[in-house]
Amino acid sequence: MEEKEEGVNLNWTLPVSSVQELVRQRQPDAVAPRYFRDDIVMAGHHRELSQGLPRIDLGKLMDPPSRSTELCNLHSACRQWGLFLLVNHGVLDEGMRMMKENVQGFVDLPHHEKQKSAQKPGSLEGYGQAFVISHDQKLQWNDMIFLKCHPAHARNLDLWPKNPPEFRIALEKYSEDMRKLAAEVVKYIGMALGIHEGELDLLTKSFGEGKYEVRMNYYPACPEPERAIGLLPHADISGITLLTECGNIPGLQVLSKDNCWVTVPPVPGGIVVNLGQIMEVYSNGTYRAPDHRAVVNKEKERVSIATFCYPSPSLPVGPSPQLLAATGLPPIYQTLSNSGEFLQCFLSHKLDDAVPFIDTLKL
Ligand code: OGA
Ligand code: NI
Repeated sequence: MEEKEEGVNLNWTLPVSSVQELVRQRQPDAVAPRYFRDDIVMAGHHRELSQGLPRIDLGKLMDPPSRSTELCNLHSACRQWGLFLLVNHGVLDEGMRMMKENVQGFVDLPHHEKQKSAQKPGSLEGYGQAFVISHDQKLQWNDMIFLKCHPAHARNLDLWPKNPPEFRIALEKYSEDMRKLAAEVVKYIGMALGIHEGELDLLTKSFGEGKYEVRMNYYPACPEPERAIGLLPHADISGITLLTECGNIPGLQVLSKDNCWVTVPPVPGGIVVNLGQIMEVYSNGTYRAPDHRAVVNKEKERVSIATFCYPSPSLPVGPSPQLLAATGLPPIYQTLSNSGEFLQCFLSHKLDDAVPFIDTLKL
């Protein structure tokens, strides 16, 4: 069945060859011109600042005696960075390990086997690349498999790999764990913002019943890492995104408030949380949906798993009414009826992205 976001024609991608296959077959010692990213400043403005990135402990948020201090930390993390390392998150190791093993197992399969989950014309879902919309467009050093996981009726199971044999069970379990975790994390983000009672319940419930999509990224080793980019700078369109590293290879970088790319180091057992544009709008610009990107590595491949978490249609997407009342500030963004409409506007905007999408919502 062909997936279309009601009339929007950008939810699709042109097929391009797998970067993994290109590297495997040709073992290039240079990057092909289609992958040159000389338009992006790769050198300079880059810091290793692992010490400075905020770490948030979910256990401390859940425990009343330590909550208010940790909520202050969370508030400052969301304002300064829009990204933090979540530790003590309570997701069982077993599920995490099983997911990582199965994603790595999928990556390691022969190409023809992975092609059984290949994107179909007209859809972004499946194995391939994201948002390749023209034949002369520059490419990213990345293969991915993107699958809708929740609600269950949105799954396109024909694209869910049957191999490795436990892949489906692992993804089902993992995405369920991420759904529960996201609702919990969003509840505390709401509290940090000063939201309470009915509106906090609405917010939390909307994520509990929301939409969850998982993107598994594979970044092969790259002969000229400074010339190519794994993933272009972008701010996620989600409410929040939960990112798990499958190994110990750094690659994710976040743009600081003073415009430096800062490496987000893999933390064993940790999950990186970054706010998406829905939360930036909800917080009326108090919190950031940071630009981030993935750089590639000369020797090592890297695998990551990003879960995009969206609120259900029960939540209007606009500045929080309680926040506006409490601060007395005017809304800086329009309110759209729900995350579905928000996504449609985003996809139609992608045709002309000279202006950041979120700026098009400014009042
Ligand atoms: C994404 C993303 C970063 C990474 O998939 O949106 O930002 O490190 N991924 O893979
Ligand atoms: Ni992202």
